[in-house]
Amino acid sequence: MTTLQVQSLGKRYGGVVALDSASFNISAPGIYGLIGPNGAGKTTLFDAIAGHITADSGAVMLDGRDVTGLPAHRMSALGIARTFQECRILPEETCLDNVLFAAQPKGLGASLGQLVTRRAGHRVKLKDEAMRLLALVRLEGYATTPASQLSFGQRRLLEIVSTFITKPRIFLLDEPASGVNPSLLTVLADFVRIMYAERPSIFLLVEHNMEFVMEMAHEIIVMHQGRVLERGTPEQVQVSPKVLDAYLG
Ligand SMILES: Nc1ncnc2c1ncn2[C@@H]1O[C@H](COP(=O)(O)OP(=O)(O)OP(=O)(O)O)[C@@H](O)[C@H]1O
Ligand SMILES: [Mg+2]
Repeated sequence: MTTLQVQSLGKRYGGVVALDSASFNISAPGIYGLIGPNGAGKTTLFDAIAGHITADSGAVMLDGRDVTGLPAHRMSALGIARTFQECRILPEETCLDNVLFAAQPKGLGASLGQLVTRRAGHRVKLKDEAMRLLALVRLEGYATTPASQLSFGQRRLLEIVSTFITKPRIFLLDEPASGVNPSLLTVLADFVRIMYAERPSIFLLVEHNMEFVMEMAHEIIVMHQGRVLERGTPEQVQVSPKVLDAYLG
């Protein structure tokens, strides 16, 4: 079973404290909501866990192993995958190729893995899986369409599918519901639930859409000013005076 420990992570950008000794442990599979006001440090925390920045202090432990400061491709190889708040896809590539590209091992040492993924049998299986995931988010009809032709909400779904094809153990979603219209939001919610049911692992969901996150998450972690302020069930955090103060404050 996968465990994730975030230990006293600190990160400054000039005079701005983005993470101020942020800590939490996750030792059971689940969908965890990560909420907090703008600037609370949520994306910076994802950046540090996924290896997109190096924290100034503190540690990230995966299954009890210190993985602090490993680059993104190493984190990815260890099973940590993330989506981006601003949504990153390859606009010129087709939807199917976006997903297949995401499935390729990255970084140094990837060539061996790429040899495996180039084998015909593996390629067919991967394509089948990519098509299955695209169908779950109603993008199967866009498989051969360049991603640039998708709506914003569809792009988000494509990015999420592309991230999921790697079958991560830790799945970090940064504001997946942002800019997604209500009907696609249902598709997104169903997709995340299906993925969790198929492979219960650690999902961390940063979200400002409170209705969405409170409905999806088993547990909520609240950040404020770079720290973890509160943790509990959706019901508990919604009535927490500390949380209400942080949001209103
Ligand atoms: N690359 C950067 N350079 C300078 N300051 C940064 C950088 N990234 C983040 N910050 C600052 O660090 C603080 C935390 O930012 P972060 O993006 O992690 O917050 P957030 O909780 O994700 O906010 P939001 O909900 O608005 O996405 C903010 O004050 C932000 O302006
Ligand atoms: Mg953010």
